[in-house]
Amino acid sequence: MDSKEMMLDGILGLGPVMPVLVIENVADAVPLARALVDNGIRVLEVTLRTPNALAAIACLAEAVPEAVVGAGTVVSPEQLAAVERAGARFAVSPGLTPRLIAAARDTALPLLPGVMTASEAMTAAENGFTRLKLFPAQQAGGVGMLKALYGPLPELRFCPTGGVTVDNACEFLALPNVMCVGGSWLAPDALMRSRDWAEIGRRARAASVLRPR
Ligand code: 3PG
Repeated sequence: MDSKEMMLDGILGLGPVMPVLVIENVADAVPLARALVDNGIRVLEVTLRTPNALAAIACLAEAVPEAVVGAGTVVSPEQLAAVERAGARFAVSPGLTPRLIAAARDTALPLLPGVMTASEAMTAAENGFTRLKLFPAQQAGGVGMLKALYGPLPELRFCPTGGVTVDNACEFLALPNVMCVGGSWLAPDALMRSRDWAEIGRRARAASVLRPR
């Protein structure tokens, strides 16, 4: 396991849930991060799905040093370079391509690539990626899929994301090949639009104490 994989272990071991964040307004970044961090969620995935995502990452890297801010939805080498410049500590991708593999080799930033099948997981592992995002997790088969992958591929570790909720997260966390789960339920669109930091904080508090079941 190389040093970037060890960095991912350290980051993804900081808590049971990594919130998937979509930030439209940079002004929302700090109150959102405070609601999460102050309630026990330190690792944040800011997706590159909005024009302001890079600015939000840069703002958080500066203003909320207790947060470990990563970039999500990184699908190209150009984006990988841009999020590193913005101050992201890690990157997450929904998949893995030859271009992204090559770019990841040339950067110090750890990448958590998405996989959905055994072959994709094996290809990722062949290229040095043993910490993976199972995406979309529920659609890929959820808990049953992860149990099935553990037999032949026990060295791989996953952060399942997509369809994970407060109600099923503990089942995922109980699996030996799951490090943490990802999900948008802590800060969904409706709560972001209404800037309901109190409710996001409550969801963060509840998520921070989720344990394997
Ligand atoms: C992701 O972007 O990783 C997923 O879309 C999050 O999925 P969820 O909205 O089902 O949590």
